[in-house]
Amino acid sequence: MINALATLAGLLSLATTGVAQNGTKPVYAHFMVGIVENFTVEDWKTDIEQAQGIGIDGFALNCAPPRIDDYTPKQLANAYAAAEELDFKMFISFDFAYWSTGDTELIVDFLANYSSSPAQAYYDGGALVSTFVGDSMDWNAVKDALGDQKITAIPMIQDPGSLANPTTGLDGAFSWYAWPTDGGNSVIEGPMTTVWDDKFLENLGEMPYMAPVSPWFFTHFNTKNWVFICEEQPTHRWEQMLKMKPELIEIISWNDFGESHYISGDQPNHSDDGSSAWADGFPHDAWRTLMKPYIAAYKMGAENPQVDEDQLVYWYRPTPWNVECSNDTLGAPRGRELLDDVVFVSTLLTEAAELTVTSGGQDPVTVAVEAGIHTSNFTMGVGVQKFSVSRGGTEILSGEGEMEISDKCESYNYNAYVGSL
Ligand SMILES: *[C@@H]1O[C@H](CO)[C@@H](O)[C@H](O)[C@H]1NC(C)=O
Ligand SMILES: *[C@@H]1O[C@H](CO)[C@@H](O)[C@H](O)[C@H]1NC(C)=O
Ligand SMILES: *[C@@H]1O[C@H](CO)[C@@H](O)[C@H](O)[C@H]1NC(C)=O
Ligand SMILES: *[C@@H]1O[C@H](CO)[C@@H](O)[C@H](O)[C@H]1NC(C)=O
Ligand SMILES: *[C@@H]1O[C@H](CO)[C@@H](O)[C@H](O)[C@H]1NC(C)=O
Ligand SMILES: *[C@@H]1O[C@H](CO)[C@@H](O)[C@H](O)[C@H]1NC(C)=O
Repeated sequence: MINALATLAGLLSLATTGVAQNGTKPVYAHFMVGIVENFTVEDWKTDIEQAQGIGIDGFALNCAPPRIDDYTPKQLANAYAAAEELDFKMFISFDFAYWSTGDTELIVDFLANYSSSPAQAYYDGGALVSTFVGDSMDWNAVKDALGDQKITAIPMIQDPGSLANPTTGLDGAFSWYAWPTDGGNSVIEGPMTTVWDDKFLENLGEMPYMAPVSPWFFTHFNTKNWVFICEEQPTHRWEQMLKMKPELIEIISWNDFGESHYISGDQPNHSDDGSSAWADGFPHDAWRTLMKPYIAAYKMGAENPQVDEDQLVYWYRPTPWNVECSNDTLGAPRGRELLDDVVFVSTLLTEAAELTVTSGGQDPVTVAVEAGIHTSNFTMGVGVQKFSVSRGGTEILSGEGEMEISDKCESYNYNAYVGSL
């Protein structure tokens, strides 16, 4: 009876807050505040406009406490101010690599400061709040301190099994298992499955799941040096989302250049944590082009993205996986031997057509592709990468990637070069 009442109350609140209405499911993107120490409100507006251009509703502001990054309050204020001007949403994602469960008072202050901003993201009638790790944070204590300023806590949880009997006052959960892994940072073969999502969904029951969507992962710091096997994931993961229909989605990430899963523009005014070594000259903008129809389909509850214009998006790594780089003190990243030496092409087509790819010294390969969004892959050849699409014998798109694939390198880079026609 109690369960039935709780379910009924949940349905009623869904109906009155409209969170699950057709066309309104939220898509957020993870924003690293730690690399925008000197951002102005104008810088924030540039990013917000790019995100709005593909239907993203808001940013999850990943941040450290002021004792670590003294600019956190200033940049949160800039973020909310910019969002207020542009009708965008923000929520704080406390990064518990730096915050601790003893920071309740400070966390309450931060949340109270923004919960009445018109730019605050709301879910189910509460101001949304999330995290990176920090699984044992006591949200009941935060809620008690905030009184009638209602929050909806959807923290990142590492053990989905713990969601069967949650005791921390959370209202839902966010997963960081956005790449093929057996847990922790173990690298396994691709492609990405929904094994982890399914564990979250089973254990959450009626509570909302915020699913992670990430296009890529490569990092090459001395503290972390690995690649996850993502390959066709930029479209494959969205196809999973269109079937799964989770209540919320968070794209990982907007601007994490260090882990190579950014989809923002190059952010000229972000600070460099060393990741420019693998992110400079590797645009990912065309992944936004690719995500836009998927985001629209997800919001509408549609099973397939709608394509209104013929386009082609391609991505490839700068070298075959087993090339040994001549001047890299860190050594090769873990997982690289699981990568396939292929070039990826997503066609966004209004009608069926023929796709031809010439990868370096390989012979041209032509395949028939259907209408809609389809991803194909082609054996990688060293040299120039050429792409063309024809329909009824007439070429409708053609061009080549500005970066050539090489069999030489100084330092390891398994980031993706992404472009479009
Ligand atoms: C970014 O910084 C440059 C100077 O490096 C400045 O000219 C520009 O206005 C800044 N961009 C924004 C949007 O504030
Ligand atoms: C509270 O908000 C104001 C204005 O947005 C900002 O200046 C201040 O730094 C914020 N304080 C905290 C703790 O975030
Ligand atoms: C931010 O600006 C301050 C003052 O100009 C400067 O000292 C600091 O190095 C800048 N930080 C970054 C990460 O560029
Ligand atoms: C949502 O609305 C669109 C257009 O109005 C419609 O095509 C689609 O079937 C609807 N989806 C659901 C799940 O109701
Ligand atoms: C090797 O890398 C170091 C550090 O990045 C650089 O200073 C040096 O010039 C490089 N050596 C060669 C031969 O390119
Ligand atoms: C390349 O395409 C084939 C055929 O669709 C597929 O089986 C294979 O998994 C793809 N390779 C990668 C690395 O995604």
